[in-house]
Amino acid sequence: MTLHAVTGPLGYTGRSLTERLLSRGQRVRGLTNSLSRPNPFGDRIVLHPLAFERSGEIEDSLRGVEVLHNTYWVRFNHALFSFEQAVRNTRVLFEAARRAGVRRIVHVSILHAEEADDLGYYRGKHDLEEALRATGVAHSILRPGVLFGRFDILINNIAWVLRRLPIFGVFGDGAYRLRPLHVDDMAALMADHAEREGDLLVDAVGPEGFAYRELVETLARIIDVPRKVVSVPPLAGWLVGRAVGPFVRDVIITREEIAGLMRGLLDSTAPAAGAIRLTEWAMKHREELGRRYASEVGRRTQRSVAYADVR
Ligand SMILES: NC(=O)c1ccc[n+]([C@@H]2O[C@H](COP(=O)([O-])OP(=O)(O)OC[C@H]3O[C@@H](n4cnc5c(N)ncnc54)[C@H](OP(=O)(O)O)[C@@H]3O)[C@@H](O)[C@H]2O)c1
Repeated sequence: MTLHAVTGPLGYTGRSLTERLLSRGQRVRGLTNSLSRPNPFGDRIVLHPLAFERSGEIEDSLRGVEVLHNTYWVRFNHALFSFEQAVRNTRVLFEAARRAGVRRIVHVSILHAEEADDLGYYRGKHDLEEALRATGVAHSILRPGVLFGRFDILINNIAWVLRRLPIFGVFGDGAYRLRPLHVDDMAALMADHAEREGDLLVDAVGPEGFAYRELVETLARIIDVPRKVVSVPPLAGWLVGRAVGPFVRDVIITREEIAGLMRGLLDSTAPAAGAIRLTEWAMKHREELGRRYASEVGRRTQRSVAYADVR
């Protein structure tokens, strides 16, 4: 039985991964920023703090661990956190893993990480891929574009907007594409990569691809809310998001996220890394999809609340 460490085991991808590892009979040690978040795994996992400022403590937490799975990252710059801080922290984590003798690191990056250094999210992810390579620890870098499934943000919030507003504005022509992967398929991929050898780089994309406009129209059809989908200038779309943000106490979307989406950075021609189809999943969950807004800032500020209960 292998001992795995998972960062963010009470979060989104990390929680799904922890379920998967436990179901495979593996042992899991969790590293989290949110020690008081409800823990659905009880005493089946041991939790440690992600104490980036005390690297010796992280090293101790990783002693005896064979595989480290890293999901830690921040989605945007904010008064409470930044990409720069997340890069620094992740470097501390990688170094602690090396010193602790971790055999393999399975790291979650982003599609096309090296292709958009002008965007902070991508620059940070690019930097961390290089930092991981420089550690000399065997690794897999897995690159999703968009994940969906229980507790997801993007797909849920598109459905949320569709349910509430009479029209839906897509940024520009909406022809840029994306290949969403189900979070449980992502978790299975991560668990599989714990067993692999050497240094691997994989695009983590799903079996279905959509143009963004087509994705919105497909979701509208599935949840049965006929809506006019119109093209809006990206800046205008961002301003609408910014105006609605305070009502849901969140940053709905950033200008960098819009730029990445419109450049087609969430698309890839790689073979599918999972089998769960977004259309089938959405059909199965059509009643609850988008009923409640999913808040990124809420997840970061309500650290003793489960993702499902964040308001
Ligand atoms: N979700 C997607 O659609 C998507 C798409 C492409 C790539 N990814 C990548 O997948 C990985 C996992 O993402 P996820 O969506 O599953 O995220 P998540 O579970 O919400 O967060 C993952 C981990 O990062 C920590 N974290 C997140 N934001 C933080 C902040 N602002 N300050 C401090 N800690 C923070 C969480 O904290 P706690 O320890 O407190 O839980 C958790 O440990 C990330 O590397 C992300 O870039 C995700």
